[in-house]
Amino acid sequence: MYKAFFKLNRNPFELTPDPTCFVPTKRHDEALAALYYGVRRHKGLVVVTGEVGTGKTLLLRCLLRLLEQSKDIAYAYLFNSTLCPTEFLQYTVADFGLPASGKNKCELLTDLSRFLVTRGTHQMTTVLIVDEAHQLSAETLEEIRMLSNLETTTEKLLQIMLVGQPELDEKLDSTDLRQLKQRIALRTQLGPLTAQETLTYIEKRLRIAGADPSSAPLFPAHTVERVHRYSQGLPRLINTICENALITAYARRLFSVTTEIVDEVARDFRLDLPGSRINSEARILNRMDAKRVAGSKGDSYAAGGAPVVSAINLEAL
Ligand SMILES: Nc1ncnc2c1ncn2[C@@H]1O[C@H](COP(=O)(O)OP(=O)(O)OP(=O)(O)O)[C@@H](O)[C@H]1O
Ligand SMILES: [Mg+2]
Repeated sequence: MYKAFFKLNRNPFELTPDPTCFVPTKRHDEALAALYYGVRRHKGLVVVTGEVGTGKTLLLRCLLRLLEQSKDIAYAYLFNSTLCPTEFLQYTVADFGLPASGKNKCELLTDLSRFLVTRGTHQMTTVLIVDEAHQLSAETLEEIRMLSNLETTTEKLLQIMLVGQPELDEKLDSTDLRQLKQRIALRTQLGPLTAQETLTYIEKRLRIAGADPSSAPLFPAHTVERVHRYSQGLPRLINTICENALITAYARRLFSVTTEIVDEVARDFRLDLPGSRINSEARILNRMDAKRVAGSKGDSYAAGGAPVVSAINLEAL
């Protein structure tokens, strides 16, 4: 709607986690490097946690883009983590392209371990990626621990990436799951962006959407500062605020977003200018948007798009 007015070729603040919009902040880049290194070096279990809307799913989609460049990697991607252990196994086996329907747990496990051993023998990499892993039950996490035991004398046969909200850390810290916790080879966290990162983030997303860097900024520095304070540096909230602010600016035929517009948007979304804590409504909004954009394996991260731009030389890891 406003794209032509602002001379943009796409919406800069889409909520969908699209790898072509990836802004490699230090933390995102380090987390991506940890995931990639974990897969490539067959480290076994890697855990990434982060608050709602900090970019975990986006990170996974960036990882998949990188993995899809290699022919020797097969992955299963699970994003509905409310499955019981047998359903979890069925889904995983089916996602690896093996027949799964009507099979019992024992048959599924046998098929999966044969598949992993065969691939391992041919030096091929097999990855299980679980998004929203904080929703996994203790029983399913225990099943994952069993899968992480599949190994040769030198390395793990299944690389497991568990990605979820901070509740996952709490689960992994529980005494019941201490055996799983001990198997974690790499563990990293995403957090909110700093004020400087928010500025870079907004600028980069506008640039990716085609904004002319030599024109007056759509979001001047003092406006960005206000966005940062309302959003507390959470990327999904930054997107929501900026998208709505652009719509308002367009409606008023303004070529740049003012702090008053940001205040209005924040009022509409019931966001406070906080001292330090994000208010509960902002969290609810963040979570509602998360549900809305929760993706499936078949959507926009499929191979063939623009490469993921990382400041880290991933191949050298
Ligand atoms: N580094 C980044 N570069 C570009 N966009 C980002 C970045 N981090 C987050 N985003 C954007 O923020 C929004 C939320 O990201 P995402 O859905 O990946 O969060 P999440 O951590 O998976 O949230 P949830 O816990 O609710 O599942 C998306 O629009 C995503 O594109
Ligand atoms: Mg997510």
